Amino acid sequence: MTDSVSFRLGVLGSGEGSNFVAIAGACQDGTLPASVAVVLSDVEGAAILQRANEAGVACAHIAPGKFRTKLDEAAEAAYIKALNDAEVDLVVLAGFMRILKGEFLRAFEGRVVNVHPSLLPAFPGLEAWKQALDHGVKVTGATVHFVDQGVDNGAIIAQETVPVLDDDTPEILHERIHSAEHRLYPEAIGAIARGEIALRGRRTMRVGR
Ligand code: GAR
Repeated sequence: MTDSVSFRLGVLGSGEGSNFVAIAGACQDGTLPASVAVVLSDVEGAAILQRANEAGVACAHIAPGKFRTKLDEAAEAAYIKALNDAEVDLVVLAGFMRILKGEFLRAFEGRVVNVHPSLLPAFPGLEAWKQALDHGVKVTGATVHFVDQGVDNGAIIAQETVPVLDDDTPEILHERIHSAEHRLYPEAIGAIARGEIALRGRRTMRVGR
């Protein structure tokens, strides 16, 4: 069992930061036995950085380098250093729109999680809520999963279903999925912090409860 008081999160995000706010709030009110040690963003001036500032959490913009969808070598090294300097136990992707590979995943093996706005393996990739509407599914949701070399592919930790309603727009559906994420992500991170998640191949189990 991990010492819950000292379980340190490093949150990476590119956008609004509403999942960061939910996670930081759960840390604050004690429902998530962890603390956010640092917030990093590839987007200068991203709302997630402002929200981290407002919450009194250390944060920084680290430029992603020369690629559009991933970090270049120097940026990857800078992210690894910042997370190690902050002594994080778990890297939490919260709307981080860059693919993490190789060196990064080796540096934090089995210690990187992501939230994705669909019931994976359906609708990986961008704008999953829009993909769900376009496909015509009646139920979608949110997934928390470990991050591996594939895109939105790692072992699933938790999922919550969300209905798709007849007059949904992409924005309304994403908002409903967001609400599910804000419940699901802090709960799943809490289970990891308490040492309750065991990995068996591609499956995760809840243990020791
Ligand atoms: C969330 O809906 C998250 O699932 C999604 O970005 C949004 C970030 O919102 N992530 C992905 O699509 C990653 N494939 P937030 O910045 O308000 O937390």
